Amino acid sequence: MSKSQIILLGAPGSGKGTQAAKIVELGYSHISTGDLLRAEIVKKSDLGNRISSIINNGKLVDDVTVLELLKVNCDLDKASYIFDGFPRNIEQAKALDEIVLQGSPIVAVYLDVSIKELVSRIVNRRTCEKCKDIYNLINKPPKNDGFCDTCGGQLILRKDDNEETVTSRMDVFEDSINPILGYYEQRGVLKRVDASINPLKTFEQIKNIIVD
Ligand code: AP5
Ligand code: MG
Repeated sequence: MSKSQIILLGAPGSGKGTQAAKIVELGYSHISTGDLLRAEIVKKSDLGNRISSIINNGKLVDDVTVLELLKVNCDLDKASYIFDGFPRNIEQAKALDEIVLQGSPIVAVYLDVSIKELVSRIVNRRTCEKCKDIYNLINKPPKNDGFCDTCGGQLILRKDDNEETVTSRMDVFEDSINPILGYYEQRGVLKRVDASINPLKTFEQIKNIIVD
């Protein structure tokens, strides 16, 4: 039987990227709309130039753009996905169902953690610019300062990881998350996990949900 598609929900800094990297080891493909959008900015494509100030102000990119990017980067006939950072509102949740998933079984995993803990996680995050591995200067430092343990790439601070932008990202999240949780709860596919504990223990909870 094919695996369910995983919709990974959670606030900025809740650990979506960190957990997705572990879930991949169970045979899923990771698709992060944030990573796809940032890749467009790095490429300096027309799309990238159009969206960079939106992202750096902590606002959401328009639904049509993000959905298009998602569609061209996933093929449900070939893989089971972890959707990280999508949906961000009810319109995106409905579009994901109707246009992308089209009846494929899903499980929505909500990484539950108090917003208060997250600013520190985010400003101390460093990301490998090459392979996108995620570090934390406080609780997951790289072995060599400034460089990725996995590929040796340079570690960078994301442009939207400053306190001002983080506040705006948190506001956007708090304004939108409850209807999304309600949408999946009503369908009986929502699972909440405690994401305030260490990443391995959080992953154990997720594994219990997605592995029969
Ligand atoms: P996106 O890239 O999705 O960012 P986000 O939702 O703000 O989430 P983050 O990537 O900041 O956090 P995360 O949950 O992945 O945490 P991580 O594992 O890295 O989106 C960025 C922007 O793109 C949006 O603001 C918007 O502009 C745009 N965008 C994206 N999707 C969009 C969409 N669908 N529609 C419209 N616009 C969209 O962990 C964070 C840190 O904490 C790391 O340092 C990590 O090591 C550490 N950590 C992780 N887990 C733990 C733990 N359990 N305990 C302690 N530390 C931990
Ligand atoms: Mg992320």
